[in-house]
Amino acid sequence: MKDTPPAEPSARRRFLRGAAALGGGASLLSGARAQSPEVLSVPPWSRQPGEPVLWQPYGLPSVHEKSVQRRSRGGTPFGGAASSMTPLQDLFGIITPSGLVFERHHAGIPQIDPDQHRLVIHGLAARPRIFSMDELLRFPSVSRIHFLECSGNTGSEWSAPSAASVQFSHGLLSCCEWTGVPLSVLLDEVGAADQARWILAEGADGAAMSRSIPIEKAWEDALVVYAQNGERLRPENGYPLRLFLPGFEGNMNIKWLRRLKLGAAPFMTREETSKYTDSLADGQARQFTFLMDAKSVITRPSAGQRLAGPGFHEITGLAWSGRGRVRSVEVSVDGGLQWQLAQLDAPVLPRALTRFRLGWRWQGQPAVLQSRVTDDTGYVQPTRAQLIEVRGLNSVYHYNAIQSWAVAPDGSLSNVHA
Ligand code: CO
Repeated sequence: MKDTPPAEPSARRRFLRGAAALGGGASLLSGARAQSPEVLSVPPWSRQPGEPVLWQPYGLPSVHEKSVQRRSRGGTPFGGAASSMTPLQDLFGIITPSGLVFERHHAGIPQIDPDQHRLVIHGLAARPRIFSMDELLRFPSVSRIHFLECSGNTGSEWSAPSAASVQFSHGLLSCCEWTGVPLSVLLDEVGAADQARWILAEGADGAAMSRSIPIEKAWEDALVVYAQNGERLRPENGYPLRLFLPGFEGNMNIKWLRRLKLGAAPFMTREETSKYTDSLADGQARQFTFLMDAKSVITRPSAGQRLAGPGFHEITGLAWSGRGRVRSVEVSVDGGLQWQLAQLDAPVLPRALTRFRLGWRWQGQPAVLQSRVTDDTGYVQPTRAQLIEVRGLNSVYHYNAIQSWAVAPDGSLSNVHA
């Protein structure tokens, strides 16, 4: 899926032409030549057998990758109500490894015995039901690749360019293959009433996290999922069962799902009244802003990293939209004066992360790197000034402005507002 060479000849020709234009026919990188004798010496690990099979019955990353971790921004008064962020700068392709998916918990991670876990579906239904996990696994299932983004992602950037890295500015973002039962199948099973317009979704955690879901989403593409990236959900991602609402703000994707109640009106829970609303400049607030708007960010190179030197560098990052597919991504290296079309890696899936790339020859001068996505509804990612014009500065959630990384002459990158 990731780093697949361009398949069709025309794409390959285009790539080679692009590389040749950048390199002028010369090599992209200068460095050690193959005639250096030390290149061919036999290293210690080639002189003896390595670790035996089943050395790690469940495989783990190399010990040399220990720095690739979820991290939290600052301390929190109660560790159970906290978040951790995905190290986007260290990842490739579009799939987030399960152990690096960001976390946001409101009362810690419940350790749930799947044999005792139940999902109740009741309210405006002809046949209210209680499902065991074994029963849920017998229903027809689907697997879909979708991003998951906390609506608070990049909220640090409303006031000032404060995050020191893309992990801390955009790391409340992950993308997995999710497997489960379409919620529409379960609604048919319980005989959802015509008057049912909203669904209360409730988690089994200590916070009893609950949100109101418009029933149209259930009929469209909502899933009740038990697996991610080919294995059962991780406890911190909702084991054994979570709601998944493609493109909707992360908080609504209720983890440890225990109850769905069908009703005629929204339930006005704490998390959709006092929290997860969007205050505007005039003091009014938007409620039920479910969809995550189109957004993109350059993940490499990004703030906190340093270019090794002038010459060829690949600029790469991620783009996504809660409304559908990414249509195009443009990249600027001069703070938004000129834009170039980036290459999109296949597959470009609806409501999934999309990987973009652009080759760049850095001459050693100051630069400001930006990316700008357009989704298939025609929506264009706003500049920071455009976003603030509409939303003001009272918001916490749904910040999706163009992100700027400044490159200094020494190659170091930092977070700036351009
Ligand atoms: Co919202």
